[in-house]
Amino acid sequence: MNILITAGPTREALDPVRYLTNRSSGKMGYALAEAARDAGHKVTLISGPVNLSAPDDIELIRIESAKEMFLAVESQISKAAVAIFSAAVADYRPATQATQKIKKSSNRLTLELEKTEDILGSARQVFGFSGILVGFAAETENLIANARDKLTRKGCDLVIANDVSQIGIGFDSSENAVTLCFPGEKSMPLPKQSKTLLARELIQQIEQLATKPRETHT
Ligand code: CTP
Repeated sequence: MNILITAGPTREALDPVRYLTNRSSGKMGYALAEAARDAGHKVTLISGPVNLSAPDDIELIRIESAKEMFLAVESQISKAAVAIFSAAVADYRPATQATQKIKKSSNRLTLELEKTEDILGSARQVFGFSGILVGFAAETENLIANARDKLTRKGCDLVIANDVSQIGIGFDSSENAVTLCFPGEKSMPLPKQSKTLLARELIQQIEQLATKPRETHT
């Protein structure tokens, strides 16, 4: 199958030398890309800036901002049977970008932020994607309820929920523990393990979804 994966953080520029970003390392997305490739799939990886080397035999598209990730997904998603959105896309960006470096003049500086494009939320409604859609939900509270809400609102076939309030898993870590949320109240907790092992299991679960008819969420 053709599998599209987004990974890593995005950077939202404030001025020519500064940006807003987050702690995502990209490890989960890269592990998924490698597991999918090893299972024989053709992988396109759209990645924000990370300290990981480009995996062999995977088409890698590097982007920086949420807007660039949106445009890259828009141009690639029609080729994909499966789309996995593991990127930690910034939800907001500076409303204006200074063309020159911002100088420190006053004691306080207020930043105005505007929403970025919701890439996962655009998959069904804007891009018309009809394949298997997998999202991540990184939450610090009400993990399963928030993940289930995302599953329905964004038309996903699977939301992989992780509790980012726990130290040692998830963001910027080599291990993760997640709960898989499928339509119809079905949930499956997967224990803490390396992102490499977890990625293999996730790809197997996603392959199984691809063999069944899609459940609808309307
Ligand atoms: N995501 C995305 N585009 C964004 C923000 C998030 O594609 N601008 C994707 C992520 O890759 C992930 C999922 O959406 O798969 C979850 O992100 P999150 O920010 O938790 O979801 P939201 O619904 O945007 O968040 P909120 O809980 O704030 O409603």
